[in-house]
Amino acid sequence: MRFSLRFIVPLAITLAAIAYAVVPLADSLTLQWFVHDLDVRSTLIANTMQDPLQEDLKIGSRGRIVSYFNRITQDQRLAAIGFCPDSKSPILATRTFPKSVVCSDLDRFQVSAERELTTPNGTFHISVLPVTDKGQALGQLILVHDTSFIRKRSLQTERYLFYFFIALGTVISIVTVIVAELSWRGLVQGTRALLRGEGLLRPAERITIPELRPIERDLRQLMRDVRSEIQLRDDSQVSWTPEMLRQILHDDLRDQEIIVVSNREPYIHVHGEQGIEVRRPASGLVTALEPVLRACSGTWIAHGAGPADREVVDKYDRVAVPPGQPAYQIRRIWLTPEEEAGYYLGFANEGLWPLCHIAHVRPVFRSSDWEHYVAVNQKFARAVSEEAKGPNPIVLVQDYHFALLPRMIRERMPDATIITFWHIPWPNPESFAICPWQAEIVDGLLGSSILGFHTQFHCNNFVDTVERSIEARVDRETLTVSYGGKQTAVKRYPISIEWPPAPEARRDPVESCRAEIRRKNGLPAQHLLGIGVDRLDYTKGIIERFRAVERLLEIEPQWIGKFTFLQIAAPSRSSIPEYEAFEVQVRALATRINARFAGDGPPPILLKVEHHDPESVYRHYRAADVCYVSSLHDGMNLVAKEFVACRDDERGVLVLSRFTGAARELPEALIVNPYDIDQCAMALHVALEMPLPEQRARMRLMRALIQEFNVYRWAGRMLLDAAGMRMRRRVLSGSRSSGSTVIPIRSASSTAGRLRY
Ligand code: G6P
Repeated sequence: MRFSLRFIVPLAITLAAIAYAVVPLADSLTLQWFVHDLDVRSTLIANTMQDPLQEDLKIGSRGRIVSYFNRITQDQRLAAIGFCPDSKSPILATRTFPKSVVCSDLDRFQVSAERELTTPNGTFHISVLPVTDKGQALGQLILVHDTSFIRKRSLQTERYLFYFFIALGTVISIVTVIVAELSWRGLVQGTRALLRGEGLLRPAERITIPELRPIERDLRQLMRDVRSEIQLRDDSQVSWTPEMLRQILHDDLRDQEIIVVSNREPYIHVHGEQGIEVRRPASGLVTALEPVLRACSGTWIAHGAGPADREVVDKYDRVAVPPGQPAYQIRRIWLTPEEEAGYYLGFANEGLWPLCHIAHVRPVFRSSDWEHYVAVNQKFARAVSEEAKGPNPIVLVQDYHFALLPRMIRERMPDATIITFWHIPWPNPESFAICPWQAEIVDGLLGSSILGFHTQFHCNNFVDTVERSIEARVDRETLTVSYGGKQTAVKRYPISIEWPPAPEARRDPVESCRAEIRRKNGLPAQHLLGIGVDRLDYTKGIIERFRAVERLLEIEPQWIGKFTFLQIAAPSRSSIPEYEAFEVQVRALATRINARFAGDGPPPILLKVEHHDPESVYRHYRAADVCYVSSLHDGMNLVAKEFVACRDDERGVLVLSRFTGAARELPEALIVNPYDIDQCAMALHVALEMPLPEQRARMRLMRALIQEFNVYRWAGRMLLDAAGMRMRRRVLSGSRSSGSTVIPIRSASSTAGRLRY
């Protein structure tokens, strides 16, 4: 409407100006026409009067002449007639003749401008015409026309013109308002749609002129490219939510196929009391990748490990999930017990896991495990190419179970975009060199287009390992590895948790969680509570954690009977001897410490080696005064972030190992070296005594960081980078097909490679 007014006001002014200029002009034109008419008319009358007048003049009867004149002036418009024989004689005229017109002064009426005469009786037009007889002048005939009718007509014309312009202005205004509103709305909607990437036209309004379709397509593509270029560069403009992820898929990866590969499934099927039940693991990975797969109806390939998994798949080993509202497929891969033992328990968890975590547990490498690892990776590679609908899907490969898979996929699908994420640390090259198959593993990973780690430190370690183990060219500035004519970008993507936190994480009030957990564990209502939540894994520093609690009670005995550390330890990989022995050690240590300090009061350590569902874990987080994460080495550690996310009351203190990826993002936690038992004991003491305002200040900062760097950003950044690569490839292949030059890249291992992802 503002736009319309902005248009109408100048239009009204312009029309008024036009009217102001045009009406007098039209008036004077009309007058001229009438005067001309009167002149013509006067000549006609004079011609008609010539003969009778000559007669009367010959007779010399003044009376006849005047009465003749009186007869003629019965014409409505001819007001008076006069005759001057010469300039000295008195005028022979009708009674109505204007007194101011005399024979001695007729010359002035020869000038057209002077022919108008205004008297108290009205306005008149004077025409002076000669009367002759055979060429001899007899005198001057003066015809006086009443012109007041012209004025009347002129006023009428002015009025008509005025109404005409008003009507014209109104019509133009109404049409303008309608057209402007419609086109403005259309323009706004079109622009919005275009910016959303939906195109200027709705499908029903698509350009029907075939010649214009390529322009429309190019315009859409250009808008998409510009948008994604902006997003690629300016991360700070993006607010990361599941919707944002969906939008990226819609805008930047429209119609692209996405396949996720991980060892663990996003859903498992088990036999329950009601028949077959579906369980969803509490996994950050599932939280992050499920919105991606939901948005693009992709496929998730994983080891079918649930007891009832086989009973629900179709003949292609697929099952649609989530239950009730299927949005994507799980393709289940079946492993024999030997394969599982060699690939999963053996090579992945007895070899690579301890190799990558510096937790002082010796890695075990057996060639039989390696063979299974190779074979299972091949099995998954086959499944990827079976599931792929086109030659260039985006494949998201997860973790150390699949180090060889990127190369195997690349061999089958050279144009696939492969993003591999290594969820655990990458050690320094000396440590990695322990692995007898280090070159094969590095080669396998370099089949990826993008290889991601949680921290820059792990990216650097990987690149160092590449330089030491194979012949490849490393660009340290861009952290890309050129190998076999292909490039792999090594990038940091710190994983996180969902934000806003899951509703269950905030559902039960903190006070009721505090009361419930203390009551269930036989602790007094005001008892101080520390919490640890981990898989029962030697990398988590559970032994060191218990020792720190013991040391706290030694150096600050006022906490005896007033503080308990509750450890939730989910059993994990328990058939591996190292894990079995670890559980025994942990149980024994808890028993010893409790025996030393419990007395008649509450025990200092409560150890629960059992699975807890996510809701129960969230309630424990909300009930605790302190959360202690003491990993000896951890890629990220999401427990630290989950604890912070659950504390919307801005209370509670996080004590965090400096050897976790999370410590780099959460410096407001109390950062400790878990091996330094005295330091950790003091940190627990400081945490228990921390004033509420300080707890609040630290918690706020940590919550703000997690809010911004959430799990959707983790997935979204990788997908945007993949989209960027695909866009560049499109541009390059476009310029190649249009005849542009391709610059050959020379690498250490390939002398004639070409820049390709
Ligand atoms: C780590 C790994 C994951 C793995 C998880 C649980 O976080 O990075 O890939 O799924 O541990 O281990 P599990 O052996 O039970 O799958």
